[in-house]
Amino acid sequence: MAINNKTTAVILVVYTVVAAINVAAELQRFDHQPTKPDGSLDILVVGDWGRRGLYNQSDVAFQMGRLGEKLDVDFIISTGDNFYEDGLSDVEDPLFDESFTKIYTADSLQKQWYSVLGNHDYRGNVLAQLNPVLKQKDSKWLCLRSFIVNSGIVEFFFVDTTPFHDNYFTEEDHEYDWRGVLPREEYLSNLLKEVEVALDESSATWKIVVGHHTIFSAGSHGNTQELVDQLLPILEAKEVDLYINGHDHCLQHISSPKSQIQFLTSGGGSKAWRDEFNQWDPNQLKFYYDGQGFMSLHIYEDKIGAIFYDVYGVILHEWSTNKFTCKDV
Ligand SMILES: *[C@@H]1O[C@H](CO)[C@@H](O)[C@H](O)[C@H]1NC(C)=O
Repeated sequence: MAINNKTTAVILVVYTVVAAINVAAELQRFDHQPTKPDGSLDILVVGDWGRRGLYNQSDVAFQMGRLGEKLDVDFIISTGDNFYEDGLSDVEDPLFDESFTKIYTADSLQKQWYSVLGNHDYRGNVLAQLNPVLKQKDSKWLCLRSFIVNSGIVEFFFVDTTPFHDNYFTEEDHEYDWRGVLPREEYLSNLLKEVEVALDESSATWKIVVGHHTIFSAGSHGNTQELVDQLLPILEAKEVDLYINGHDHCLQHISSPKSQIQFLTSGGGSKAWRDEFNQWDPNQLKFYYDGQGFMSLHIYEDKIGAIFYDVYGVILHEWSTNKFTCKDV
């Protein structure tokens, strides 16, 4: 009897510890300190790209390389849909080489890439893109579901948005690889909790959230209601500065009077020109471009800016804002 009780107690303790670890599972963190002496950062952002160089992917890559050199970029962000049409089949899939390594060849782009998964990536073998073996094939590659990159004055929160999308769980046209995501309710509630806690604990001047799916968009996919309902309230409460996404194959800047957040879409990495556009309040839609291109971010202690470029490297739209921190007082 006594032994039984003791055994039960031990099992209970172990179970409680494991449960606590599950609930409080922290997002993986990466430290990427700026190299410029003033602590500022220059970053490129591209999304929806992997098509073996086709649909102007190579042209966008070339311009990214040119600008990357001029700016001496710190790193590159991919907003997902990394490999079309169905992600990677396994770690040996030649698409990794053909759509990534052989495309982004400029010296200036051989920096760390931080990538999230898009819905097309979930249509393949989702574990392949997350497999560390790919880093051995190409050291600039890094893709995780959700994670944090700390860069001094700025902190990036990468969020796995595909599992939020209700349709993907019911539609019959495509199959998704949900390994690691089920049970879905638990996965989503844990993720939202982790993001909320991490944002709460962040002392960075600038907080930037990156996901594949839109929150707001005038493009063909439009808003993602699940994210408007579940993620946006957290980002608003925690005073996030920018939400950056892909998914719609366009370049876009939306600012809403109801929110301090700027919504930036960089999804022009390859196939674009869909010519589907939803009416939007022109006071809020600061910029919309239906074609290919990419975005750069410029982050200083007291100022942040974004610039959008087309396939020729021509600047299409610029935005920036200031923030007065305690240090200025
Ligand atoms: C490539 O970019 C040019 C310039 O924007 C555009 O005219 C052309 O249609 C694009 N090609 C494709 C396949 O989208």
